[in-house]
Amino acid sequence: MAAPEKSGGLLGWLDARFPVSRLWRDHLANYYVPKNLNIWYIFGSLAVLVLVNQLLTGIWLTMSYRPSPEEAFASIEHIMRDVEWGWLIRYLHTTGASALFIVVYLHMFKGLLYGSYKAPRELVWVFGMALYLMLMAEAFMGYLLPWGQMSYWGAQVITSFFSAVPGIGPGLAEWVRGDYVVSGATLNRFFALHVIALPLVILGLVVLHIVALHEVGSNNPDGIEINALKDDAGKPVDGIPFHPYYTVKDLVGVAIFLFVFCGVVFYFPEGGGFFIEQPNFAPADPLNTPDHIAPVWYFTPFYAILRGVNFSLLGLDARFLGVVFMGGAIAALFVLPWLDRSPVRSMRYKGWMSKLMLAVFIVSFVALGVLGVLPSTPVRTRLAQLFTVLYFAYFLLMPLYTRLEKTRPVPKRVTG
Ligand code: HEM
Repeated sequence: MAAPEKSGGLLGWLDARFPVSRLWRDHLANYYVPKNLNIWYIFGSLAVLVLVNQLLTGIWLTMSYRPSPEEAFASIEHIMRDVEWGWLIRYLHTTGASALFIVVYLHMFKGLLYGSYKAPRELVWVFGMALYLMLMAEAFMGYLLPWGQMSYWGAQVITSFFSAVPGIGPGLAEWVRGDYVVSGATLNRFFALHVIALPLVILGLVVLHIVALHEVGSNNPDGIEINALKDDAGKPVDGIPFHPYYTVKDLVGVAIFLFVFCGVVFYFPEGGGFFIEQPNFAPADPLNTPDHIAPVWYFTPFYAILRGVNFSLLGLDARFLGVVFMGGAIAALFVLPWLDRSPVRSMRYKGWMSKLMLAVFIVSFVALGVLGVLPSTPVRTRLAQLFTVLYFAYFLLMPLYTRLEKTRPVPKRVTG
């Protein structure tokens, strides 16, 4: 039951009909957060900020974009050259896509570093992973819309993964595309999913992610449960109200982020071919395959895993096995909360094996990302295989090394 509201006027009227004051208190002014949250904790708020940027700029782009193979490429040029501020809206959206993945990757790394996925935050993590998966689908479908060479051939390559499924493969790929090859039917459905369906799913998941987080409260760099130690008034002794302390702290982070982000948008919008790839300045030509097809940088670690699988195993052919490995690389992240058996959460108190394996994982992920951008050679394929093994070792050996290693004692109070 809501506490009776004393305020009169408009707020009192509203409170009697909708829990405005209660929501403000429960999620901001009276929501206690550990007082030792550091720079790594800014990326959740930044992800919300960039997501809002994507939604708003996306709505404005849709006003002038035309989802047909005949008009799509030209409508993007029209937005860039003729629509007032169209160039800015488009660059905010294309740079925003890469910024969102940078921010989300750093946000996930914070989770790995401080064990934020461990009980009782498993659901926060699982909703986060569902968000990551949906963001990947959203970015992939959005990339087809400009109908450039890389849009077309990237979509052709990725949708053809479905044809690797034994038995139903070819039919499945045709069903996904709505045609034998990527065509106008594919463009139309990707457009519908990109502008309506997936944004709704993503927004819903953000709400679930935050509700789950507020139910259990934030973790912190020490990995201590602040609610375990409360003062006489029932407030956590190591907690401070989210508002005004973290609203103000987050605003500083937002200001710094916007400086960097605007710098890229205004002076470096193509990101050296990483944010908008070179072949995408030419319209899609279904009869002319580009020399080197690579997905955008945020997909390349998984693409390198896929390409590295050039052998068959247990009767499964290399193409399908590649898809299985790629799916496994993402599935492993989903089940992380149940792989980590350590008695402590934060890397600060874990043993050397956890620290080493986290370093191995990060190096493997980045190396796979670099290999996925480059054209493949026999040496690079071997390297991709090596880093794939190391990537999976982090997860598969986790139940062992987190149990075997000696951890350091966790302090009762946060250390800053
Ligand atoms: C659009 C994408 C996302 C948005 C908008 C978002 C938003 C947020 C926000 C605002 C917070 C609270 C502030 C913070 O702790 O940084 C948070 C916490 C958290 N998020 Fe996300 N998130 C997203 C994606 C993800 C992903 C992909 C994962 C991991 C799979 C993830 C895992 C977590 C975890 C574990 C926490 C709790 C951190 C802690 O208490 O230490 N999030 N998220």
